[in-house]
Amino acid sequence: MNQTDLRGSVAPGTVVLVTGGARGIGAGLSRHLASQGAAVVTADVVEPTADADGLDVTHVRADVSDESSWRQLVAAVLDRHGRIDALVNNAAIYQGLGAKRPFTDITVEEWDRVMSVNTRGVWLGMRAVHPVMKAQGRGRVVNIASSTVHMGVPYFAHYTASKGAVIALTRSIAREVGADGITVNAVAPGLVETEATRALNDEDYLAASAGRRAVPRRMEPGDLAPVVSFLCSDGSGFITGQTLVVDGGVTFS
Ligand SMILES: NC(=O)c1ccc[n+]([C@@H]2O[C@H](COP(=O)([O-])OP(=O)(O)OC[C@H]3O[C@@H](n4cnc5c(N)ncnc54)[C@H](O)[C@@H]3O)[C@@H](O)[C@H]2O)c1
Repeated sequence: MNQTDLRGSVAPGTVVLVTGGARGIGAGLSRHLASQGAAVVTADVVEPTADADGLDVTHVRADVSDESSWRQLVAAVLDRHGRIDALVNNAAIYQGLGAKRPFTDITVEEWDRVMSVNTRGVWLGMRAVHPVMKAQGRGRVVNIASSTVHMGVPYFAHYTASKGAVIALTRSIAREVGADGITVNAVAPGLVETEATRALNDEDYLAASAGRRAVPRRMEPGDLAPVVSFLCSDGSGFITGQTLVVDGGVTFS
C-alpha cells in the first residue's frame, strides 16, 4: 500500500480485541470501533451491560490476570475471526478501587490485586497475542494507562503505580516487537465521566477537574475513542512506544 493511502481510523473488517469491554470506557471504545466496521471481541469478567445493537461486537468471559484465561481468549477470537489485528488492553481495577486512601492504608492484598489486573494483565495480553501478530507480520497494541501518572494524583498509590508500569511496559515491549510489524502505544486519559468515575469522585471534584483543562469541559468516553481507533489503524504504523495523554490539556508531556 502507498504510504499516502494509509487510513487514520480502523479499516472495515479489522479484528480488535478490547479487554474490560463490558462497560464504561471499554464498552464505548468497542461500539466506536464497531461503528467504523471493525469486528470487535470484548473480554471481561462480567457480562456486557448493553446489547450490541446490531454492531459486530461479541463477548468472551475472561480474566486478564490469568494466564490460562488468555490462552482460551486468544483461541476463541481466532476461532471466530481467524486473526487479531489489534489488542486494546483496557481492563483494570478502577471502579473496584473504592475510596481514595493514604498509601499507608492500602493493604498488601489490595496492592497485589491491582497489580495483577492492571499491570500483569497488560503484560499477559501482549504476550498472548504476540505469536499471532508476529505470524501476521502486523499488529497494533493500545494500552490504556492514566494521566494520574503524570499528575501524581495522591491517595491512589497502587493504581498510579500500576499505570506507570503500563507506560514502562509499552516502551520496553515496543522496542522488542517493532521488527515484527507490531506497534505498542499507550493512551493516558484524564478523568473520564463514566459510571466508575462518578462512583469514585464527588460532583465538586468532577467540576473542578473540568475547569482545570485548557479545553474546559467534562471528558466523555467519546473523546478517547477516535484516538484509540487511530492507534489501531494502518496510519499510525510509524508511532510506537508512545503515551498519548488525552486530558483536554491539563498535563503537557
Ligand atoms: N474513567 C476514568 O476517568 C479513567 C481515567 C484514566 C484511565 N482510565 C482507565 O480506563 C479503563 C476503563 O476505565 P472505566 O472508567 O471504564 O472503569 P471500569 O471500572 O468501569 O471498567 C473496567 C472494566 O474492566 C473489567 N475488569 C476488571 N477486572 C478484570 C479482569 N481481571 N479481567 C477482565 N476484565 C476486568 C471490569 O469488569 C470493567 O468492565 C481502565 O484501564 C481505567 O484504569 C479510566
